[in-house]
Amino acid sequence: MRVYVLNGVNLNMLGRRDPEHYGALTLPELEGKIREWGEALGLEVVCRQTNAESEYVEWIQEALDSADAVIVNPAAWTHYSYAVRDALELLPLPIVEVHLSNIGAREEFRRVSVVRDLAALTVMGKGPEGYREALEYLSKQ
Ligand code: DQA
Repeated sequence: MRVYVLNGVNLNMLGRRDPEHYGALTLPELEGKIREWGEALGLEVVCRQTNAESEYVEWIQEALDSADAVIVNPAAWTHYSYAVRDALELLPLPIVEVHLSNIGAREEFRRVSVVRDLAALTVMGKGPEGYREALEYLSKQ
C-alpha cells in the first residue's frame, strides 16, 4: 500500500514555528519518523511538502493514479481552499486529515475545515503522533 503524506504551506518551518502548537521537530525529522512508522507497518510512504497551492493540488491529482491512500495536512489551506477540497473530492481513496495542533481549540478561523467531510478520519492536537495514528488507521483498511 502506497501512502502519500502531503504537508502544506509553512510546514517547512516546523522547528521554528510556535512550539506550543507545533512542537520542536523540524520537517525532515517529522518526515523521518513518518517513514519509520510507515515501514514498520509495511506501508510505502511518500512524504512531500510545498508552499505552493497549485503544486499541492497537482500532487493530490497525481495520487489518483499513484497512491492507495493519502494523509493530508493542508495547514492554512484547510480553512479556506476549495481548490484543495475539489482535488481531494476526485480521490476514490481513503483520506486522513492530520493537524499537529488542536484546530478545534484555537482561533475561530481555524475551527473551519473545508476538507473535513471528505476525510475518513481526522486527527488533531496529537503532534507528530497524529501521523502515526493516521498510518495505523490506513494499514487496517
Ligand atoms: C496546522 C493548523 C493550521 O491552522 C495552521 O495554519 C498550520 C498547521 C496544524 O498542523 O496544526 O499551518 O494544520
